[in-house]
Amino acid sequence: MRAAAALILALALAGCDSAPKVVFADASITLPDDPIDLPEGPGRDAVIENCTACHSPSTMLQQPKVSAEKWESIVGKMRKLYKAPVDEAAVPAIVAYMMHVQSLPEASR
Ligand code: HEC
Repeated sequence: MRAAAALILALALAGCDSAPKVVFADASITLPDDPIDLPEGPGRDAVIENCTACHSPSTMLQQPKVSAEKWESIVGKMRKLYKAPVDEAAVPAIVAYMMHVQSLPEASR
């Protein structure tokens, strides 16, 4: 131990300039999706609050165009089958938003 300590001290005293420099490259990660990358529209907040905890907006945005009734049943499925804590009162707003988004031209979604 003493020899090791002495060696470390000697290296330290030899000056920092001679020590090899460890350069960390900037690490960057790209997340798969922006969780709030949803088009503006009525009910958007309700969707962000109730739906984006489990899946990315693209899961919802890339669905085939369906009726309001179908959206209601999809939201119902989220609640019953997947136990999504969706506020009952928010369901109409969520359905309205999904209908709105699906009425937008593909490019602006
Ligand atoms: C508790 C987690 C959870 C929440 C919250 C949630 N979902 Fe889901 N959702 C799931 C799971 C699990 C699936 C099935 C995923 C798969 O099939 O890969 C799914 C699938 C979907 C699908 C794909 C079609 C289908 O019928 O399976 C749509 C659309 C969808 N969710 C919309 C919504 C909407 C809108 C909300 C908000 C009201 C919501 N989800 C909230 C868990 C959730």
